[in-house]
Amino acid sequence: MEVTLTVNGEQVTRDVEARLLLVHLLRDELSLTGTHWGCDTSNCGSCVVLYDDEPVKSCTVLAAMAAGHEVRTVESLETDGELDPVQVGFMECHGLQCGFCTPGMLMSARALLDRDPDPREADIREAISGQICRCTGYASIVRSVRWAAEHPDGRIEA
Ligand code: FES
Ligand code: FES
Repeated sequence: MEVTLTVNGEQVTRDVEARLLLVHLLRDELSLTGTHWGCDTSNCGSCVVLYDDEPVKSCTVLAAMAAGHEVRTVESLETDGELDPVQVGFMECHGLQCGFCTPGMLMSARALLDRDPDPREADIREAISGQICRCTGYASIVRSVRWAAEHPDGRIEA
């Protein structure tokens, strides 16, 4: 079936099988491999993208269901060489180790800060509660998101 949706600001049309998941459309059809696929059980959250500005596990959405919707992936965070403040925060506060969970964490963080520019630690923990990180223990991820909240321009002090 033919599906047209907007991905990172661009309209794309693909002929897909009805069973194709959004995560596979992004990765395999559109080569947007920043979105990770980490499980078969909808538990890990490494596949989170923004779906009409809401964080959604892209392995829980059929590509056909995404017709007419707007999807943002981690590739959209950097614009014209400028990293999103959440990306800078993860670098500054060591919010990643292996990095497998990171694309999903970044997208959930972006969605949180878009609706609440000054989240408390509890709010951040709730925002990422559907996502698993096997490396960091989460504390540095929370610090990274707080850094982004405190540095909305993403600038690092000298
Ligand atoms: Fe694990 Fe989507 S790939 S929740
Ligand atoms: Fe390795 Fe999160 S940094 S899973």
